Amino acid sequence: MSSSTDTRPARIMLLPGDGVGPEVINEAHKVLRAAAERFGHRFELCQGLIGGCAIDRTADPLPANTLSLCRQCDAVLLGAVGGPQWDDPLAAVRPEQGLLRIRSELGLFANLRPVRVYPALANNVPLKPEIVANVDLVVVRELTGGLYFGKRGREPVEGGEHAYDTMSYTTPEIERIARMAAMLARSRGGKLTSVDKANVLESSRLWRATVTRVIADEFPDVELEHVLVDSAAMHLIQRPRRFDVIVTENMFGDILTDEASVLAGSMGLLPSASLGDGGPGLYEPIHGSAPDIAGRNIANPIGMILSAAMMCRMSLGWIDAADCITAAVEHVLRTGRRTADIVSAGQTPIGTAEMGTRIADFVAIMDVAAKRSRETECVRT
Ligand code: IPM
Ligand code: MG
Repeated sequence: MSSSTDTRPARIMLLPGDGVGPEVINEAHKVLRAAAERFGHRFELCQGLIGGCAIDRTADPLPANTLSLCRQCDAVLLGAVGGPQWDDPLAAVRPEQGLLRIRSELGLFANLRPVRVYPALANNVPLKPEIVANVDLVVVRELTGGLYFGKRGREPVEGGEHAYDTMSYTTPEIERIARMAAMLARSRGGKLTSVDKANVLESSRLWRATVTRVIADEFPDVELEHVLVDSAAMHLIQRPRRFDVIVTENMFGDILTDEASVLAGSMGLLPSASLGDGGPGLYEPIHGSAPDIAGRNIANPIGMILSAAMMCRMSLGWIDAADCITAAVEHVLRTGRRTADIVSAGQTPIGTAEMGTRIADFVAIMDVAAKRSRETECVRT
């Protein structure tokens, strides 16, 4: 943890990655600079390669140098990985492997994906405003196990090939994610929904039994319910307000969070934090590299900027900066500034860089307002 009283600046690793990653990370950096300046925090940056750009330069989607720098930092900010030039499904090396490896190597087993609906955007959502109003939920996605990391393979069989991926979980893997989600639920509305497919999958039956036991033994104050994943997918768009904290398996979480982003109005708005025990946290927007809009200054940087705010709060202990950045994002949306993905009829979109500048400016303007009110108080007393 770092704060203004620390002698050592916080060390932040930037991994811009591919597609729109570099553009949105620039804006997060701009906003971080403004927030650090305002609150007297200090940070230094490292930068590294991951994903497709790393394959091009080093033939490895997660070069050893990137990983070792990450381990020396307090937190990692990641843009996005992937793109059509590395998309050959038969290629032995793919950008996404870099992302999965960094999550696994840093032991980041819990991926927190908050979904909030901003009142200013309620009309941009394809669902009825009364359904999405006041939605405020967090999906805790298990990130280093399950279908993404189970035994997999491909072998010739008569008539073609046999390919398989397995969804596998151990008791300790489920216990630790259940604890993380329960602690989060306790700090919020006190309600936890565990999502599985226990009517079909053995791994889900172990998941359900383990979550039930952990909550009963250690978190009797947390209200727990179990919902099947297909039903959860439906409830998310029918009655999203019923959810507070959702905890679920890796791939279920991947799918449900793309769905949940529709509630907010755009994938480009959603941040995430990946946490483990001890090492640096990794903060990335949930959107992908969006190669079709990369380099055109039209991507929405808000998901990345809010990821930086989560980093300030959860890894650096800069609560003041985190609150200020979040408030600045809300303010800028309230004043009608919109990137192309969230623009409504009659509004003119602004670019990626301008959105970042507006948010950074507001962080600084809030500073002036705060100083003024402090000065006024001095005069008065
Ligand atoms: C995400 C992404 C990644 C995932 C891809 C890019 C491998 O979809 O972070 O949600 O599936 O985890
Ligand atoms: Mg995804």
